[in-house]
Amino acid sequence: MFGRKKDEAFVSSPMRDNWYQSSSYWPSSFALVTTVDEDGNTNIGPYQLSFPFEIITGRSFLVISRQNSNTDQNIKRTGKAAMNFVEFDRKTLSKIVGMGYPGQLTDEKMKDNPYTLIPSPTPGREPDGKVMPHILKEAFQVYEVTWDDQQPIRDDGKTPEYFVLRIENLLLKEQWADNLANGTKKMPRMPITFGFRDGGKFWFAELKKPFWIPTPTDKGPKEEAILYEANRIDPEIQFTRDACKQLTGIPRPFVKTALKGIVKQAKEQGVTLVDEEFVTKINAERNA
Ligand SMILES: Cc1cc2nc3c(=O)[nH]c(=O)nc-3n(C[C@H](O)[C@H](O)[C@H](O)COP(=O)(O)O)c2cc1C
Repeated sequence: MFGRKKDEAFVSSPMRDNWYQSSSYWPSSFALVTTVDEDGNTNIGPYQLSFPFEIITGRSFLVISRQNSNTDQNIKRTGKAAMNFVEFDRKTLSKIVGMGYPGQLTDEKMKDNPYTLIPSPTPGREPDGKVMPHILKEAFQVYEVTWDDQQPIRDDGKTPEYFVLRIENLLLKEQWADNLANGTKKMPRMPITFGFRDGGKFWFAELKKPFWIPTPTDKGPKEEAILYEANRIDPEIQFTRDACKQLTGIPRPFVKTALKGIVKQAKEQGVTLVDEEFVTKINAERNA
């Protein structure tokens, strides 16, 4: 399965700066970050080094930028940004590379912007010519963020800037929101980048059709999958592990409907934590 390559010896790769792209291979998505410049115009900067950071309760995104990029200066001045994610379109990749070329000011680089800038539909995030950026009409997903300057990772004046950006609003195009809400059937065709190489090339890749593999049903605690599903239905209603243990007998295709029924009853009764006792009670009522 691994071919002849599995027999090759490992050699040490030199530790260069920007090691992830100069000393190794690291493909990932990238965000088109919109921010507002000093004249009130929206700027677009492509950023591969952009990752989910806090993921439970806190929701933030980490962006690493070279010092003094437009995005760096704009975030420090305004505190606001939007992370726009687009689907694969080979023709616009060269424009994206153009917008990723250091040293251009906003009005200059935006002359060659292939996207349509539109106001955010989020109340309070309408462009104001000062701090609130436009978003990209062509994006399928946008994270609207505010810089959390109380969470500096390191600032010794020499490193790049590490921005912890608090996610205030997640925007999805309708079809992608429906897809998540009704059981994921497809994945967006996001472009992949391998970053800047050999002093003059930006590498990209195209996703093949995504597919899924079922998680094991014979490993780990039986209630795990139920717990996962149960606690995603309504953020205000949470299930305990013991409550979920009592539901492991429900055939898999009916689990979601059963959980939704429990959530509905919990809401009606003003219950926010579904525990073993609550499940026992509604089971007894149903069987009475
Ligand atoms: C696909 C792509 C990904 C990039 N990722 C990063 C990154 O993660 N961090 C960074 O500092 N520069 C990155 N760059 C280079 C920046 O886009 C470049 O510094 C650009 O000048 C930033 O725009 P701005 O000055 O308008 O913010 C990337 C460029 C491209 C084309």
